[in-house]
Order: sequence, then structure tokens, then C-alpha cells
Amino acid sequence: MHWRKHVRGFTPRNKCGKLDEARVKRFFQKGTGNHIGLARVRPEVSALVEFMPLNLLAPQWPIKGPFDAIFCRNIMIYFDKETLAKLLKRFAPLMKQDGLLFAGHSENFSYISDAFKLRGQTVYTLANK
Ligand SMILES: C[S@@+](CC[C@H](N)C(=O)[O-])C[C@H]1O[C@@H](n2cnc3c(N)ncnc32)[C@H](O)[C@@H]1O
Repeated sequence: MHWRKHVRGFTPRNKCGKLDEARVKRFFQKGTGNHIGLARVRPEVSALVEFMPLNLLAPQWPIKGPFDAIFCRNIMIYFDKETLAKLLKRFAPLMKQDGLLFAGHSENFSYISDAFKLRGQTVYTLANK
């Protein structure tokens, strides 16, 4: 298992994907020593992010919008259609009017909820905007 290497936020450098070299340099730092070949987001960037656990099935969510974007990728597999429809209904009021909801590449929310409409490949906007 490579699990331990991810504990401190390190990821294989090739997971930086299609980002150009300038962006990789600006936003990531290279691992050294035991972390050669790995990279992690620079602390000044991750300091901008508030991390917290969120159980999507919990009756209350400890978060407040409005959000520019919600990434809910590759989660559908865990939920039945009804649960997912409820979830999308809860997302809608948390989003800015022109906010974006990102799904996974093989996920399609269109047939489940009328709260969102497809804006591009795997990206949705509020349907009522
Ligand atoms: C296949 S992984 C996808 C992870 C990540 N979003 C991605 O695209 O790489 C599915 C994730 O859904 C999370 N998950 C499952 N049930 C959940 C729930 N009720 N609330 C929040 N997250 C949940 C799991 O913990 C797991 O991290």
C-alpha cells in the first residue's frame, strides 16, 4: 500500500496531471528525502482551505454557503437515486447563483434532479438561474 505516503498530503508528482510547469512550481513543493518523487500543495495554499469532515447523510451540515463551486465527484456510487436527489436539493441553496457543481467523469445528475442543469462535461449550474 502507498497509503502512508499520503498521510502528510504528499502525492506522486505525476498526479499533478496536466498543470503546466509554472503552476506546479507555484502551487506545489517537491518532496525530499523519503518523499522523493512526491509533491504536496504549498502550505500557504493549503492554509487558505478549511478542512473538516462532512457526512453528506447527516441531518445538519456544519457549513454555510454561498459557494462558488462544490466538488462532489465519484460519490454517487454510494447513494441510491432518492438519496442523491435529496442531496442535490440540499446543495442548491448553498451555491452562488452562478456557482458550479462538479461531478465525476462517469456521473450524470441530469436524470436525477431538476435543481441543476448540465453546463459542460460533468459540470452543472443551478437550473433556475
Ligand atoms: C470513490 S471515493 C471519491 C473520492 C474523491 N471525491 C475523488 O473523486 O477522488 C468516494 C468517497 O466518498 C466518500 N463518502 C462516502 N459516503 C459518504 C458520506 N455519507 N458523506 C461524505 N462522504 C462520503 C468516501 O469517504 C470516499 O472518500
